[in-house]
Amino acid sequence: MSSIEALKKEIVETVQAANDMQSLEDVRIQALGKKGKVTDLMKSLGGMDPDQRREMGQALNRLKDEITTEIEARAAALKRKEMEERLAGEKLDMTLSTRPEQQGSIHPISQTIEEMIAIFATMGFTLAEGPEIEDDFHNFTALNFPPEHPARQMHDTFYLPNDPNGKGEEATRLLRTHTSTVQIHVMQEQKPPIRVITLGRTFRSDYDMTHTPMFHQVEGLVIDKTTHMGHLKHCLSTFCKKFFGVSDLPVRFRPSYFPFTEPSAEMDIGCAVNDGKLEIGAGQNWMEILGCGMVHPNVLKNCGIDPEEYQGFAFGMGIERVAMLKYGIPDLRTFFESDIRWLRHYGFGPAEQPNTALRSE
Ligand code: DAH
Repeated sequence: MSSIEALKKEIVETVQAANDMQSLEDVRIQALGKKGKVTDLMKSLGGMDPDQRREMGQALNRLKDEITTEIEARAAALKRKEMEERLAGEKLDMTLSTRPEQQGSIHPISQTIEEMIAIFATMGFTLAEGPEIEDDFHNFTALNFPPEHPARQMHDTFYLPNDPNGKGEEATRLLRTHTSTVQIHVMQEQKPPIRVITLGRTFRSDYDMTHTPMFHQVEGLVIDKTTHMGHLKHCLSTFCKKFFGVSDLPVRFRPSYFPFTEPSAEMDIGCAVNDGKLEIGAGQNWMEILGCGMVHPNVLKNCGIDPEEYQGFAFGMGIERVAMLKYGIPDLRTFFESDIRWLRHYGFGPAEQPNTALRSE
């Protein structure tokens, strides 16, 4: 027995001394492998008498277990050591400051989008998304544009080849002419109460100083049981005050027409022209800023929402247009020319946060 104790001591010492996985494996083979020391002793059991064999057999099995446990513990310790060495070797100092000579800048559209999201988020709006390739139903019919209605032509729609698998108006594919399409997707998918905005690209065949074939819109939709025009006015006045950073910004709502809202309105903000420069705020002039209204009962019905139970408001705004007003950019087309000098002038630094915090009343 004492020879077993001595063998155990010897093997445990070599296990402890193994400094990498390969030498640990060598130690294992020397002890427990086919020609290992413990295995040799096992083989000698055959020549013993039964009592001695049982006693010795049990002792050797215990020895095997103990050595296996030792080896596993050593292997775990070696792996941990290896990992620590690797982590130390691959360590990166993330505290380096950004390089002052940074190139590139954030496009004014991206910055404006971030600002809008930040402001509407404080009013409890979440973000919704919808596809840029749409069908006639989502772009027009569900939004209460009657068939052959002249407003369909007003949109200068880009049509794509029909979807061979679609039926009727769902076969007509087009590039969405406005983000109002997302209202329909949201109402088809969610139950009220709803409070969402969506921001994205829209497309119309038009090109001059104030029109480009692709432009961005932000759309808002609020549906609940008692939502009314007062909520609409407060929500949009608050947004404009924060967005333009003018806490006493004069606003007015003029009656208008959109097929998908009733009543419909356009919102103007106060402005002045001083020395040929536009200033947002109190002044002699008004500037149209967005379209809005109470969601038409037909639109609710088209999306499976009962207009007897629910009502709400919607609004839509051109993102380039408000960015031009806010940042004094005179020509819409320049947004998409990728002129590096223009981007340097009107762009924002990567670390620049949407500046809404400075703009709360
Ligand atoms: N979809 C309109 C457009 O592209 C903008 C708009 C007006 C959206 C009124 C609305 C709204 O949701 O209520 O001109």
